[in-house]
Amino acid sequence: MPLVPPYIESLRPYEPGRSIEEVRREYGLTDVSKLASNENPLGPSPLALEAIRRELAGLNLYPNGGLDLRRTLAEKFDLRPDNVIAGSGSEGIMSGIIRTFLCDDDEVLTTDAAFIGFQVLARSRGVKYRTVPYRDWHYDLAALAGQISEKTKIVYLANPNNPTGTIFTRHEFDSFYRHVPERVLIILDEAYFEYAKDNPRYPDSMHYRYDNVITLRTFSKIYGLAGLRVGYGFAHEELIANLLKVKLTFEPGVLAQIGAVAALEDVEFVNRSLESNARGRAMIAAGMREMGFEVVPSEANFVMVPLGSAETAKWLTEELVRRGVIVRPLGAFGIPHAIRISTGTDEDHRMLLDALKQLHLKEILCRS
Ligand SMILES: Cc1ncc(COP(=O)(O)O)c(C=O)c1O
Repeated sequence: MPLVPPYIESLRPYEPGRSIEEVRREYGLTDVSKLASNENPLGPSPLALEAIRRELAGLNLYPNGGLDLRRTLAEKFDLRPDNVIAGSGSEGIMSGIIRTFLCDDDEVLTTDAAFIGFQVLARSRGVKYRTVPYRDWHYDLAALAGQISEKTKIVYLANPNNPTGTIFTRHEFDSFYRHVPERVLIILDEAYFEYAKDNPRYPDSMHYRYDNVITLRTFSKIYGLAGLRVGYGFAHEELIANLLKVKLTFEPGVLAQIGAVAALEDVEFVNRSLESNARGRAMIAAGMREMGFEVVPSEANFVMVPLGSAETAKWLTEELVRRGVIVRPLGAFGIPHAIRISTGTDEDHRMLLDALKQLHLKEILCRS
């Protein structure tokens, strides 16, 4: 009997991508833009930082399992704390969902090239992981509904989706939901909710609460707290009660909880982040389209750029990094011929577009 089960043995460890410091050192650069991890380029929420500084002296004490944050979120969204869970990032909660609900014979269903964090978590449980292809870089909800079998336990949907940046609409979700049996749990991952919420076609899952849907959101994106690791989920109290049995007792950490509670008040920072993102997304998309690239229309804080081949995507990623711009190649997600570019500051976008101009589109397309 091998020590490690085959479904773990065959996994590839997550590669976080190169850091700014690493790229500076390796290429002897001073200015480096990291547009690879969908982080907030404006830094962390200032109100969160202030609250965290005030709390440092209390670090000798254990946290209370997220209770303060659950209460604050319940009040903000007009729910009861029993309907809310808080954890170490939305990935922390996803991990709890996998451990709480999946049995060995269950199947997980999602799209091809789904968010890598979910892929890793689901595959590491050793259950059958089934996917359907995208339709024009969007979730094909009709095809997904058609693939639900007696063994399907979880359907994972990210809206907006990472890495494509696309959304499915309220109408599409309503039609899909009619085909989902109650025994199937839908994870609605809304990590990028704030960026899409003003689109009237976007289905904010808080507007219709179903007993078999869990909504996941995060402080990592719009609140600029990715390094703190804190996220939350909303669901029926029975689902939450079972998740709470399995959750790591003390997550989220003390600073994560304090920072998150304070960030919820930081309306000015959220608005500034939204504005900066909309401007950045438009600048990247317009600049790159003008050069002849295909840029998938995005509702998130990044854009996906399909290229002619995996070789071109690899080459372009490397040439950009040499010029101080770190982007994300999407091989690990399952789209090796595409790259993903996060929004940054205006200066980051200028660096990106300048680097692309230096490379000459013809050279890039010739490789496709
Ligand atoms: C779709 C999606 N879900 C979840 C996450 C993870 O969020 P967190 O930092 O809250 O774990 C990400 C991060 O990139 C994401 O893109």
